[in-house]
This record gives sequence, structure tokens and C-alpha cells, in this order.
Amino acid sequence: MELRYALLFSCLIIPLCSSDTDVSSHFVLEPYDFLFDKAVEAYYKGDWLTVVLNMEKALRNKATVRNVKAQCRLSCANQTAFGERLSGLGVPIPGAGSVEDLGFFQKILKRADCVNSCETEKLGYPTLHQVTADVELEFKKRTPYNYLQAAYFKINKLDKAVAAAHTFFVANPDHVEMKQNLDYYRMMAGVQPEDFKDLEARPHMAEFLLGKSYYSDESFGLGADHFEVAINEYFTADKECRALCEGAYNYDGYNYMEYSADLFQTMTDHYMQVLNCKQHCAVELASTAGKDKPFEDFLPSLFNYLQFSYYNSEKYEQAIECAKTFLLFHPADVVMNQNLAYYSVVLGEDKAATISARQVVKQHIQQSLLEKELLYFGYEAFGITFVDPDTWTPEDVMPKKLRDKQKADRETAARITEEIGNLMKEIETLVEEKKKDSSDIAMIITQPEGGALLYDDIKVTMTSKQLNGSQRVLLDGVISDDECRELHRLSNVTATAGALPPHTPSEMFQGVTVLKAVKLGQEGTVPLKSARLFFDVSEKVKKVLGSYFRLDAPLYFSYSHLVCRSAIDEKQEDRKDLSHPVHVDNCVLVSELNKCLKEPPAYTYRDYSAILYLNDDFEGGDFIFTELDAKTVTAKVRPQCGRVVGFGAGQENPHGVRAVTKGQRCAVALWFTLDPTHEEKVRTISFLPTASVSG
Ligand SMILES: *[C@@H]1O[C@H](CO)[C@@H](O)[C@H](O)[C@H]1NC(C)=O
Ligand SMILES: *[C@@H]1O[C@H](CO)[C@@H](O)[C@H](O)[C@H]1NC(C)=O
Ligand SMILES: *[C@@H]1O[C@H](CO)[C@@H](O)[C@H](O)[C@H]1NC(C)=O
Repeated sequence: MELRYALLFSCLIIPLCSSDTDVSSHFVLEPYDFLFDKAVEAYYKGDWLTVVLNMEKALRNKATVRNVKAQCRLSCANQTAFGERLSGLGVPIPGAGSVEDLGFFQKILKRADCVNSCETEKLGYPTLHQVTADVELEFKKRTPYNYLQAAYFKINKLDKAVAAAHTFFVANPDHVEMKQNLDYYRMMAGVQPEDFKDLEARPHMAEFLLGKSYYSDESFGLGADHFEVAINEYFTADKECRALCEGAYNYDGYNYMEYSADLFQTMTDHYMQVLNCKQHCAVELASTAGKDKPFEDFLPSLFNYLQFSYYNSEKYEQAIECAKTFLLFHPADVVMNQNLAYYSVVLGEDKAATISARQVVKQHIQQSLLEKELLYFGYEAFGITFVDPDTWTPEDVMPKKLRDKQKADRETAARITEEIGNLMKEIETLVEEKKKDSSDIAMIITQPEGGALLYDDIKVTMTSKQLNGSQRVLLDGVISDDECRELHRLSNVTATAGALPPHTPSEMFQGVTVLKAVKLGQEGTVPLKSARLFFDVSEKVKKVLGSYFRLDAPLYFSYSHLVCRSAIDEKQEDRKDLSHPVHVDNCVLVSELNKCLKEPPAYTYRDYSAILYLNDDFEGGDFIFTELDAKTVTAKVRPQCGRVVGFGAGQENPHGVRAVTKGQRCAVALWFTLDPTHEEKVRTISFLPTASVSG
């Protein structure tokens, strides 16, 4: 979750590292991304031992950081016990009043201090090192095991090579080469069946899967044993998962620049994010590597398997306990109620009545429901979206107003779908009729894009077809030369160069959002007129795009940003990187697999994107569309003032920006969503009258 701090730590507590290098003085726990890079470099030099040493250490260090964070937060949770009287203050908490407030914050401070000292003791002082999202993704995809299996094989550690290969393959079941490797290993002498281990398996999931396989073989006794362990491990993993959620606040895009909430709003925003993450643990724990979807209703179904296993082992007391536990989640479940009635008759009604559901599950449900209530409160009061991951939540946990709204939205969506369906049918009929004597109408079907542009000066320079793809358009004349210059000036004045996370080291990057521009306008730092222009121009692009792509539902802004990238002259030699690497706007591009995963951290709700260019007096910086491999360029667009490239934000449109090798390239980047809950803040606050720019 939280990757801000890395990791210097003394060797005292980790016996693993005492074998290498200097133990006496300060030992440095190297950040695992450095180790990963070192191992990859060694791989290309064929230095297998270095690959193994560094990659193993990278995995170990990553696990250490994770465990220390979880354990420190869990063991420090006792610092916020509000029951007892506070030393020095002498008032019970909770209570009302400014003294009680102090007591509350004293607890918070103590807990922060406890967590900090605990982590510092075990990991050393925090540094500013931050592991990049790219490397995080590699670990998530278990890429380290791909390198490890090759290196182990080369140094003849066959058992380890097999385990690494298996571990990688579990998470990448479509990987053809690894499948071949595994087939090959299976036939080799000296390889044992038990070498095929998943080194990253999580205990609760491994036990569940094992239990399930015994269950399928009708070995119900063994099945029950493993399901019981799975349940125990589940709650351990759940505690850890929740503790790991208590990390840093995750800003969306660059909006930390304009974040100015007060104390309680800030705490609320952060806490809502933490609670959302904690709720998501139910999904996290139900997921298993290599499977697209999490197991549905995972925890309740564990008790379902278990009650049936006990019934088949004629253990009626346990079967009743598990059936009652399942019914805590789904009290109206017909089959389970029948089962319970049957088991009760067999055991004796009186005895059955004394058996209750498991306490740990009662507590779990109670806590989860309280979390959901807070999250829904946050949704209603502050618009912080919450989507309940559980299927068992009673209906009335969601406030009635929200329920009604969602119902209305669903009905609208269904109606629109139906209307579109009818319309398409009409068009098809029309086409059928006219087919014989006119080919024009067929164009409507093959080119659903191409709606009115609404402004006389704007013209379509290239359609999807000319841009070698779909859901693409190139427009010119969207704004005038004067307007380009004014926006470029705005960017130069507001630029907070250097304050942003670096992209490529060969370029400087500066950016300003609409909200920031409006604020600066109100403060008089920039002409309010220019801020207004930025706002209006982005509205104009939105209108044109919605109309051109013939969208039935309105587009909302998700994020808009005026950005300039300037080449740093002395850093252009031998440059091979892009200015902005190839990516897709609403999914995580995994170019090695030609796949795009529509899941966080991608902004999955983004539906359309547009870039409005402001100038062309620079070298390099062409915009490119590629295939899903992120390499094969399908179309290239040269920026110029007033030009807009607009496109669908999905996997049909991977794109990037080539290196800017001389001068400064400025553009307005706009992302749109069809989902109003993700509308950009400034648009709803409406600082400015929303009049449109004159043609
Ligand atoms: C709370 O946890 C800390 C850290 O593990 C421990 O040192 C302390 O003794 C615990 N305090 C209580 C009251 O349990
Ligand atoms: C903005 O700054 C860049 C680099 O400092 C400069 O080349 C450019 O002329 C400036 N543009 C405007 C419109 O002020
Ligand atoms: C589309 O593909 C063709 C053939 O590869 C290429 O010549 C053309 O330049 C591409 N279009 C754009 C806009 O890049």
C-alpha cells in the first residue's frame, strides 16, 4: 500500500542478512527495486550467481518491509485504548469538550510514536526513497521468479528452478514458454513432484484449495481439517491486510498541489481511503494468483463447505455451528435453513438450540458493517465513492437516498441501452432497404463516429480509419494562435518546475490544473481571463468530442492538466527513452502479454481522452498510438497549435509521447468520464460561469 519510505535497517533482527558483507557497522537494507534492477542487469551479463543473490534479497526485503509494517501497526493498536483514564488529563475519553479533544489527540500522537519507533527499530530511519509503480507491478506479476528460474537452472539448482518456475506460472498461466519449461522439468531425472511449490502461496488460500480438492474426492474429514485451518489463517491475513491499509494518503494524479482541506476534512479524507482499503480486503483475500476474478462470497462459502463436510463426517454439532455461522451472512438462505433444521432433528432440537454461531465471525460482521456505515456516511456527506465488495450486506445498510438514486441510475442505463438497441435496429432496417441502390447509408454503420463538430472553424483532419485504429480523431482549428499563446504564457507563469515527480531525467516537466489556475487567477497571480480561457477551452473540447463520437450520455471531466515538457539540452545524448512511456488511460498495460488490466491503480472510470496542442516550435515530441505490445507504432501525430487528438481511453488506444529533444512542448491534457461520481472537483464547485467560448 504504502511505498514512501525505504529501508535502512540494522542487521540485528534479521538473521538472514548476517552472512553477507559488513555486519559490524550500520547495515543498509537495500530497497528492493534497486536489488531487482541489479539482478536484471546481471541477468543480461549472464552472471547467474549475482542474479540469484540480488533477486532473493529483493524478495526477502520486500517481505520484511511488509511484515514489519503490519506487525508494528497491530502491536501499537493498544495505544489507542480509550477506556482508561489518561495520565495527566484525568478525564475519561470519549467525552465532549476541548480537554477531551486533547485526550483524543494524545492517543493519536502516542500511537503514531509507537508505530514510528517500532518501524525505525526494525527497518532503520525512513528515507525518501519511493519504489515506482512499475517495479511494484513486476513483483505483483511475480516477474522476479521468471529471472530466478533461469538463473537457478544455469547454476544447477534444479529443485529451486522448478519451484521458481511453478511460482511464476501460477500467476501467469498463459505464459507459453514457462509452460514448456515446466513440462521439460517434469521429465527430468532428479525432479520430485513436491518441488513444484508455489513460494508465494498465501496460507488461507492454499489450505482452502487443498480442502476443496479433498472435498471433491469425498474425503470430508481431511477436507474439514483444511477448511478449519483456512478459516484461522483467513482471520490472521485479514488483520494484516487491514493493518497494511493504514498507509499514506494516496493522491489522485497531481492534486496534492491544490489540496487544502482543514484538519477534520483531511483526517476524514484519509480515513475514508483507509476504510475503503480495509473493506477491499474481502476481495484481496478471495483472490488468487492467475485467476481473473476473486472467489465470490469467499468467507461465507468456507462455512458452507465446512458444514457439509461435517455433516458427511456425521459431526452434527460442528455442522450446526457452521450452518448457523453461514446464516449470519445470509439469514434467509433457504437451503441452509433446511440443512439446519435437518441437522437439528438428527442431533435433538434442545441440544441444537444451545449451539451458537462462531464469535469471531459475529465480530467480523459487526466491524465490517460499522465500516460500511461510515463509508456510506462519507459517500452522502462528501461524495467519497464507496462500492460495497460484499454480497451479504443487508439492504438497509445503504442509506435510502443512495439506494433510490442507484436504482434510478440503473433504470436510466437500461432505458438508454434499450433505446440504442431500437435505434440500431431501425438503422439496420433502413440500410437493408437502401442497400441495393445506395451505399451511403452503410457509412452510418461502419462509421458511428463523425457527429457534428458544432463550431465552424474546427475541421476533421483525420478519422479513426486514417489514424489506423478505432475511436480516434484528429481535429484542427480548435483554438486560435492568440489563445495558444495565452495558455502557453499561463503555463509559464504558474509553472512550479521541479515540484513534480520527475518523469524522464532528460526533460523538465511543469503543469497546472484548472483549479490551480483559477485560484491563482483569484489571487491575482495570473490574469483571471487566462484562467477562464483554460476552463472554457477544455469545456469546448469536451462538447466537440461528445458530439463527434455521438455519445448518448454526457461526458464529465475526470482530470484536466496544462503541461509543458522541456528538453534539457545537456541530457539528450544517446537518449532512447520516451517523453511519456506508452500506456492506456483506463487500464494497466502489460505489454509483454498484449493485455490491459482494467483495475486499480489505473483510472478505470476514464472513458475518453483528448490532448490539445499549443505549439510546434520544438524537436521530437510526436504523439504515437501503438499496438498493445507498446512497441508497434500504428499512427503518429505531429503537435501544432489548435490541434486536438481525441480518442477512447480503453485498450484499443495505447499511446505515448516521443522524446522532446529540443525546446518546450505544451499541451492541455483532458480526461473524460461517463460516470458523474468521478467528476473533477473544480467543475462541480463552479468557480466560473460556465458560458462557452464563442466559436
Ligand atoms: C502495547 O504494545 C506495545 C508494543 O508491542 C507493548 O510494548 C506494550 O506493552 C503494549 N501495552 C499494553 C498495555 O498492552
Ligand atoms: C515559456 O517558457 C519557455 C521556456 O522558458 C519559452 O521558450 C517560451 O517562449 C515561453 N512562452 C511564452 C508564451 O511565454
Ligand atoms: C497509418 O498506417 C500507414 C501504413 O502503415 C502509414 O503510412 C500512415 O502514416 C499511418 N497513419 C498515421 C497517421 O500515422
